[in-house]
Amino acid sequence: MDLKEHIRSIPDFPKPGILFYDISTLLAEPAAWKATVERLAEAIEPYRPALLVGIESRGFLTAAPLALHLGMGFAMVRKKNKLPGKTIKHTYDLEYGTDTIEIQADAVEPGQRVVILDDLLATGGTAAAAVHLLRSVGAEVAAAAFIIELSFLNGRDKLDLPVHTLISYD
Ligand code: PRP
Ligand code: MG
Repeated sequence: MDLKEHIRSIPDFPKPGILFYDISTLLAEPAAWKATVERLAEAIEPYRPALLVGIESRGFLTAAPLALHLGMGFAMVRKKNKLPGKTIKHTYDLEYGTDTIEIQADAVEPGQRVVILDDLLATGGTAAAAVHLLRSVGAEVAAAAFIIELSFLNGRDKLDLPVHTLISYD
């Protein structure tokens, strides 16, 4: 199964000049989505994480079915002010301005092995921030996995851990 055939590219979204890789068409095709989940599962299973962490929002789509498939827990890293109770935040720099992500303070036990999931690795800023946040709550971040990598942006250079991607665009 060639997963690329199920990913749609849409020019000039969200801004002029950006080519957006849309996984809606992958999600809409059960056989292609099943193959996606199974391939990510193969990549992740050897790390034997206790928990899979999805990054809001498209990372939730990726991590939750995998956690179910592999019999692992699932935890959310969310955009700010979405999670109740005690939370830990991390603010990181964007090209213009900053962004903040957040996790519930008790989502991960100290020393727990986790793998981070998202749909797409672009500049790596989001994933690097999630790694930082997870380490700050004591997680051992074993790896990160994505469906798509925009390899020309060198996002994996921002991540000091094993990175797995299924599809790459140069
Ligand atoms: C997209 C994508 C990744 C991130 C990758 O999310 O789903 O999370 O950007 O970019 P980076 O590697 O340059 O940080 P987006 O912020 O568009 O939000 P969404 O997942 O809620 O749609
Ligand atoms: Mg995202």
